[in-house]
Amino acid sequence: MVAESRSRISVIGTGYLGATHAACMAELGFEVVGLDLDQSKIDSLSAGRVPFYEPGLEEVLQRNLGNGRLRFTTDYDEAAAFADIHFLCVGTPQRADSNAADLAFVEAAVDSLASRLTGSSIIIGKSTVPVGTAQRLAERIAARAPAGAEVHLGWSPEFLREGFGVEDTLRPNRIVIGTDSPVVESAMRDLCAPQIEQGIPFLVTDVPTAELVKVSANAFLATKISFINAMAEVSEAAGADVIKLAEALAYDDRIGGKFLGPGLGFGGGCLPKDIRAFMARADELGVEPALSFLREVDAINQRRRARTVDIARGLIGGSFAGRTVGVLGAAFKPNSDDIRDSPALHVASAIAEQGGVVTVYDPEALERAKQEFPGLRYAHSMLEAVRDAEVVLLLTEWAEFRDADPDELAKVVAEPRIVDGRNALDPRHWRARGWTYRALGRP
Ligand code: UDX
Repeated sequence: MVAESRSRISVIGTGYLGATHAACMAELGFEVVGLDLDQSKIDSLSAGRVPFYEPGLEEVLQRNLGNGRLRFTTDYDEAAAFADIHFLCVGTPQRADSNAADLAFVEAAVDSLASRLTGSSIIIGKSTVPVGTAQRLAERIAARAPAGAEVHLGWSPEFLREGFGVEDTLRPNRIVIGTDSPVVESAMRDLCAPQIEQGIPFLVTDVPTAELVKVSANAFLATKISFINAMAEVSEAAGADVIKLAEALAYDDRIGGKFLGPGLGFGGGCLPKDIRAFMARADELGVEPALSFLREVDAINQRRRARTVDIARGLIGGSFAGRTVGVLGAAFKPNSDDIRDSPALHVASAIAEQGGVVTVYDPEALERAKQEFPGLRYAHSMLEAVRDAEVVLLLTEWAEFRDADPDELAKVVAEPRIVDGRNALDPRHWRARGWTYRALGRP
């Protein structure tokens, strides 16, 4: 599916979202320049190396660098002169001083770009922003664009999951464009023609609705996870098994089984900060009670982390002081090296703070974890991490850990005790091999 349109694209911000978007737009046949102010990221991408772990992305990157459709720069003049459609893919992290989203990167990108635009051009935001942001950015653009420049703005939220970024970008389950400009709508229809032809739903909305789609989707997903984790809390108290409960619920297709996986809960660069920013925005809009349930969703999620620490401590007699602990997993989920708001590292560092001697292993996220949590110990294999451990915690469900052989691990640990923070193992199998097995929400 190669596009026939002649549009030339810039992608501002080359993190998980932007680098994937830039490479995939080139893959679809467009000429693309990716821009970032971080020279090391640009050097790495230009050399065909993805500076984070994302399966399949490096091949797409290298193919399109090779065919000349894709290049990277730190120069706004170059991006402004080259492209007629600019995608904003910069980060919107949580502010240090509140729950709200930090829009500094979005505003800086828009300011840098707008002052350099000439003729007619289009800016399409993809970053996750509080509803109402695009309206404010339109005013900034109008104030900064040179006389004669005609800038059209739209918002097209991105729903990609880390670990499935290429697939989710090339074949999203829906495309949403929020705009009141026919120029933007028609440009998006051209850009997305290959996907529209495949039958992927293409929704045109007003701008605030498009901004809301992304945060409400993430709020729903977070709520679903916290719902089943709340059921796990009740199950533990009642002697029920939340895994069987979830299975039974999932047969009702109004409920469905996806995102109904109980365990240590959600982390990452999106769900936690997005629900907090959404609450902060609802407060500003005067509808704070409408989203007060998200406070509970966040609290349930945080309690799972504390509960995991408590279960492990209970297994070794009530104190971590001087005790050897093996932790499997550092990334916020498998198939990613992202450790932003990682439940695994939250648990590992809480145990270390309580005096435990914690050794962590993760197949991809070790380097990032070492930088962020230099106080923990790190191992280069699963067996090394659990050597002499008095308790093992499985905190990110990498396939390597799911498939672990309980007999192999039993040979190196001090005591065969495991806390399965992701409900990833078969308890009967591990217990049959002599392990004391504990999980969240199960007897
Ligand atoms: C999420 C959204 O899924 C995606 O659409 C959006 O664009 C960005 O935010 P991502 O952060 O990559 O994507 O991770 P996701 O796969 O959604 O997982 C989020 C967290 O929820 C992970 O920590 C995962 O371990 C946890 N999770 C997921 C559960 O605890 N239980 C589940 O059943 C599913």
